[in-house]
This record gives sequence, structure tokens and C-alpha cells, in this order.
Amino acid sequence: MRNLCETTALTYHGNVTNRCDLTQANPGMFSFFSKKAPSSTTAVINQQRITVNAQETILQAALRQGIDFPYSCRVGGCATCKCKLTEGKVKELTQTAYILSDAELDQGYILACQSVPKTDVCIEVDMASQQAKRRVSGRVVAQERLTHDIVSLRVQLDESLPYRAGQYAQLSVDSLPSVSRSYSFATPVQLNAQVTFFVRKVPGGEFSTFINDTQVVGQGVTVEGPMGDFWLRASDAPMLMVAGGSGLAPVLALLQNAQAEGVKRPVVLLFGARTQADLYALDTIKDIAKQWAGNFTFVPVLSEEPEGSAWQGKRGLVTACLADYLAVGAHAYLCGPPPMIDAVTDLLVQSGVSKDAIHADRFTTLHDAPTAA
Ligand SMILES: Cc1cc2nc3c(=O)[nH]c(=O)nc-3n(C[C@H](O)[C@H](O)[C@H](O)COP(=O)(O)OP(=O)(O)OC[C@H]3O[C@@H](n4cnc5c(N)ncnc54)[C@H](O)[C@@H]3O)c2cc1C
Ligand code: FES
Repeated sequence: MRNLCETTALTYHGNVTNRCDLTQANPGMFSFFSKKAPSSTTAVINQQRITVNAQETILQAALRQGIDFPYSCRVGGCATCKCKLTEGKVKELTQTAYILSDAELDQGYILACQSVPKTDVCIEVDMASQQAKRRVSGRVVAQERLTHDIVSLRVQLDESLPYRAGQYAQLSVDSLPSVSRSYSFATPVQLNAQVTFFVRKVPGGEFSTFINDTQVVGQGVTVEGPMGDFWLRASDAPMLMVAGGSGLAPVLALLQNAQAEGVKRPVVLLFGARTQADLYALDTIKDIAKQWAGNFTFVPVLSEEPEGSAWQGKRGLVTACLADYLAVGAHAYLCGPPPMIDAVTDLLVQSGVSKDAIHADRFTTLHDAPTAA
């Protein structure tokens, strides 16, 4: 794996430099060749010039100065803040190599939420995803317990919100103002403008505990999205889907959508859970499998099922049986807790799967937030 603790702009484009004239950026503070850490730097984002304070990330500085920069998790887990460093150097707070593809790394892409400028920098960011994003209000119409720690929320939106199956949104409820969190759509777009989320209770977690422990049917909500790039890429390659816990939500949405579109690709769905009590949506998976136009293999894998129980299926971590189900040339779609995604990604890369054929949504939380050195 590459060491990306420091990233330098790798490419030089005349047209970019014309728009991004750093020599006039920050008189007196300009720091390209200075060894001393600057007290502040300048970032030119698309054509807009901002000041970045010492130890501040590019994302923090951009949001502080009113730029509608795309972001979601803020902890290096979703790649929503992906942008291209065209000039300058940054210090990276976490490894970005798992999230960004080799091609993106080679082109100089960085995560704005994980990058603290070491010099003045020029950044190009695609604002199109921001322009497509909308805030839609709605009301919770159903709240169903799926397992002891996962609740399904069905929301009737006031207007339809287009998204790709697999994407996610920022969700907030009226009775918890100023708290919003990312949740994946658990179904493809519905004609009746209803959306569904699976919310797993995180110990000590503010939003997920509230949703799991409080009756919220009838409450007003705001859904802002869509976000993320976890969706099915066009191909004939076999599909390896790996889901852990509530990570099943976008995987189900993606599979339901593909099934409705008549996709014939062979599919293996590995669902990692602790015990039988953590398995859910089995009827939905059965329906998808029955109607799938090609081969569909579903493998639940339990890591903490008590010895001697009636469970006849696979035991252990999903990584233990990955090799048994990895078809030649497969494209992988992974979703769930970051440690699971990282372990599966490692194994897939070791097995020769190209990083460009691995698509992942890491369900990061505030607990995963890095601290600036
Ligand atoms: C792209 C994406 C999609 C997601 N989709 C889903 C989904 O479909 N379903 C789902 O269940 N989850 C999903 N998540 C996770 C979700 O967004 C929330 O992070 C999760 O529900 C926890 O939120 P919370 O408010 O309950 O916890 P928080 O209050 O955010 O706390 C999370 C954890 O961090 C700890 N913590 C709180 N503050 C700090 C701090 N300052 N420093 C260190 N630790 C702290 C808490 O004790 C807790 O353990 C997704 C995340 C991402 C990034
Ligand atoms: S906002 Fe930067 S990776 Fe999620």
C-alpha cells in the first residue's frame, strides 16, 4: 500500500494554473518553498480563493467560508468530499487509499475532509453532485423492529427525491433538531415517494439510539440527498455483494433495482452477522433470489453463533469464506462497518481483484473521526 501521509499535486495543467495563480494568492504568507509550517495558507477551490487556518482541513475551511463543498461523513469514510489537488501539498490525516481508486490516486485526488494544506493549494471539485442534492421534508409512516438493534423507518416524502439505488441521504427528525446522520436508502425509488432506512443502534450514539428507543411514527423529518457513489456499474461481470449489519440496506436497494431491470449477472450475496438473531430481511432476499434472471447465491455467515446451536450454515467472519465464493473477474460491492470493509478489501486485493472493481460504502460514525496531529 502507498504511503499517502503527504500528497503533492501530481499533474500540471496549463489551464488550471491560469485559473489558479498561486503566486498572487497570499502575499506575505505564501509558503510553497518554506520549511516552516505556515500559520495559514490559501486554497483556490475551483475559482474561489479562501484562507485555511493552521491545522484546519480544506473541507472545514471551505464550509466556514460559505462554499457549498460536497461532504457527508467528515471522517474519510464516504469519499463525498473527493477533489483533485492540482497544485500544492497536503498532509493527510488518514489513509485514503482504501476509498479512492488507483486511477483517482494517480490523478491526484484527495479527500478534503482529511487534507490539511502544507502549502497553498489549488483544488478542483465537481459541484454537480451538490447541485443534484435537495432537501425534502416528510413524515415517518412506519417504524418496524428488524432485529434487537436495527429499526426500519419508512418515510412519506412531501415530494419525490430521485436517487440511484445504493445511494444515501442525510436524515434528521424534527424532535432532534441540529442532529443529522447519513443513512442509505433501503429500497430503490418508489412511485409513491416513500423512502426507507435501516438504522442500527450504535452504543452511545445520539441519533440511532433515539430512533431505536423512541416511537417516531407521525414525526416530521428532513431528508437531504442523494449522496455517494455506491451503485451498480454497467458490466457483465459476476457480482460479489458483501453486507454487514445495517449495510444490507443499500445492497438490497441495489439488488432490487437490478432485478427489476432484468440484470442476468451471477450474484453471490454474503451477509455477515453475529448470531441468528441478527439476521433480517430474509424474505426480501428470498424474493430477489427467486426473481433474479441469473444465478443467485445467498450465504449468511455468523461470527458469534453459540456452539452447538441448530445453525447449519457458515460460521466465522465473512473473510473466512470469501475465497470459496469469489468468481473470476467478479466486481465487488461491500457495505457495512469499516473494519469489515477494510478486511474484505484487503483480501480481495490480495486475491487479484482490481481496486477499480471494488465499490464500498463504509458506515463510519463520529467514533471513527481522526484527530488532527
Ligand atoms: C455513507 C454512510 C452511510 C450510512 N448508512 C447507514 C445506514 O444505512 N444504517 C445505519 O445504521 N448507519 C449508517 N451509517 C452510520 C450513521 O450515519 C451514523 O454514524 C450512526 O447511525 C451513528 O449515529 P449516532 O448519532 O447514533 O451516533 P453518534 O452520536 O454520531 O456517535 C457514534 C459513536 O461515536 C461515539 N462518539 C460520539 N461523539 C464522539 C466524539 N466526539 N469523539 C469520538 N467518539 C464519539 C459515540 O459514543 C458512538 O459510539 C452510515 C454512515 C455513512 C458514512
Ligand atoms: S466527507 Fe470526506 S470522506 Fe466523507
